[in-house]
Amino acid sequence: MMQNSFIAIDFVDDKLVYINQVRLPLVEEYIETDSYERISESIEKLEIRGAPAIGVASAYALALSVKNILENKDEVFQKAYKRIASTRPTAVNLFWAINEIKKVFDESKDYEDVYHTLLNRAKEIHNDDIEKCDHIGENGLQIFQKKSVVLTHCNTGKLATAGEGTALNVIKKGFKNNLVEFVYVDETRPLLQGSRLTAYELEKEGIPFSIITDSTASFIMQSKKIDLAIVGADRIAKNGDTANKVGTYNVAVNCSFHKLPFYIAAPTTTIDYNCKDGNNIIIEQRNKNEIICFGEKRVTKEDYKVYSPAFDVTPAELITGIITEKTIYRPPYNF
Ligand code: MRU
Repeated sequence: MMQNSFIAIDFVDDKLVYINQVRLPLVEEYIETDSYERISESIEKLEIRGAPAIGVASAYALALSVKNILENKDEVFQKAYKRIASTRPTAVNLFWAINEIKKVFDESKDYEDVYHTLLNRAKEIHNDDIEKCDHIGENGLQIFQKKSVVLTHCNTGKLATAGEGTALNVIKKGFKNNLVEFVYVDETRPLLQGSRLTAYELEKEGIPFSIITDSTASFIMQSKKIDLAIVGADRIAKNGDTANKVGTYNVAVNCSFHKLPFYIAAPTTTIDYNCKDGNNIIIEQRNKNEIICFGEKRVTKEDYKVYSPAFDVTPAELITGIITEKTIYRPPYNF
């Protein structure tokens, strides 16, 4: 049995320390840095990923941008803000977090020591996410009518948040309460957040699971192997339309066809109150190499065209409930 506790993200001795998710589960390597540029690169490369985790990392990155800066602090801060905002467009948590830090910067009276003021706000955002994950896990217990077999997509656990996770925390709490029996994990093409990261976390928790290819999900539902599906979110529009890892919409459509409940779990920091509906969510496009290669090895012709959206949008009407730290919202959604 592996040791189940590991730290995915922490702030130690004025540095952000995080596990390098690109190398998991085969190599457990930590990145330690006080450079906002390095953190920005990590967000782009998915060395750190998952909407709440990139929110927390971005808050620390922006605070760190003014560490040891004595002159032109405004200029340095604005440059860092733009750089961090340019890393990934879809997860609203990133923009929420850097705007929180910006508010503190704009209002700060102690210009000399603004770094520590910003750092305190970043730490609050960090601790707040830990707490929100706990409440999401607790609230989520209500979705289980019996000891259930669950399907999930992508990774929504410790690796994707600052705490115990969102959808994966509901699964973990469900297992501890004897309400979850088994988990089917979509591998989550193309970057395999399911087969690499969710599997890693479930193994550490001792929760029984099988990895499936994403295209196996409908067959599993048809053969009545699962009771419900639960996934996370990167941005939830005011009407409940939800952007999450590409392939989530397929899961939702399949659940609807097979009359299975389909849940989203996310902190309220993932709700974009300025976004009317899913049509207004910007979907990140990824590099074609992530599709045409497996790791370092190219498996198809380099000149083939590729279309690679990182996320899709599930219409609110397919979502049975949205589990947040406050409550489980039910349709019709109106945030
Ligand atoms: O591209 P990723 O790995 O950052 O995508 C992550 C997801 O889609 C997660 O499901 C989402 O961020 C929620 S994490 C609690």
